[in-house]
Amino acid sequence: MAETVLRAEGIEAGYGRVQVLWGAGVTVRAKESVVLLGTNGAGKTTLLKVIVGLLPAWKGHVFLDPDEVTTWRTDRRVRRGLAYMSEIGVFPGLTIEENLRVGGQFIEKSALKSRMDELYGYFPDLAERRSTLGGALSGGQRKMLGIAKALASSPKLLVMDEPSAGLSPLFVSQVIQVLSKFREQGLAMLIAEQNVAFLDLADRVFTLEGGRIRFEGSVAELEADDSLHKAYFGLS
Ligand SMILES: Nc1ncnc2c1ncn2[C@@H]1O[C@H](COP(=O)(O)OP(=O)(O)OP(=O)(O)O)[C@@H](O)[C@H]1O
Ligand SMILES: [Mg+2]
Repeated sequence: MAETVLRAEGIEAGYGRVQVLWGAGVTVRAKESVVLLGTNGAGKTTLLKVIVGLLPAWKGHVFLDPDEVTTWRTDRRVRRGLAYMSEIGVFPGLTIEENLRVGGQFIEKSALKSRMDELYGYFPDLAERRSTLGGALSGGQRKMLGIAKALASSPKLLVMDEPSAGLSPLFVSQVIQVLSKFREQGLAMLIAEQNVAFLDLADRVFTLEGGRIRFEGSVAELEADDSLHKAYFGLS
């Protein structure tokens, strides 16, 4: 079996005294793309925040193999090869170029320069508008910038919170297309989503309900389960 790049196990976490996660966990193997599927309020963002170190785990463990990183600060995890795209994604008051520099702040200057050139190749619309402010971009372009910014550090694992949020179906398919290129290159990804279109990218799926993992398996296995099928694909 392929080496694991991320393991989160038995995670309990919440806000104040309100517990949201009840022993949830996910794994992502090298070069694997994993979709964490869950409806509104299931706890997707909460689990991702624990994984990237923006929220403490009350119980459980996070490993960026081979290291246990449960108590590490986010920047240390980023230096270990983790990148995170939040639901917000970009700094509206910074230009495209500046956003990419922030994303790549922990890598060496010369490496960042060549990484940015490479990313501009993948995102030609951004290349044409390097000095445009993030806040002046359309929703779809802003999402592309969010992805490029997260990729600026040349991560081993890209963790994304609902890349489809606020996008029209056309932009959703553009986002899926660009992510599939990075998937082909062997980038490991963990994508929290409620949009089943992202299952096109999934080597493996976890479903999260009420702060617990209900299912782990392939897309075919998910589709074969009647009640899960109803829950995520509707009744049709
Ligand atoms: N900062 C917060 N303070 C208190 N409760 C919160 C906070 N953020 C989230 N919650 C609660 O935690 C639960 C899980 O929220 P979370 O944002 O993790 O879900 P989600 O699966 O990401 O949902 P969505 O699809 O809406 O983004 C919800 O009941 C939510 O109201
Ligand atoms: Mg969320």
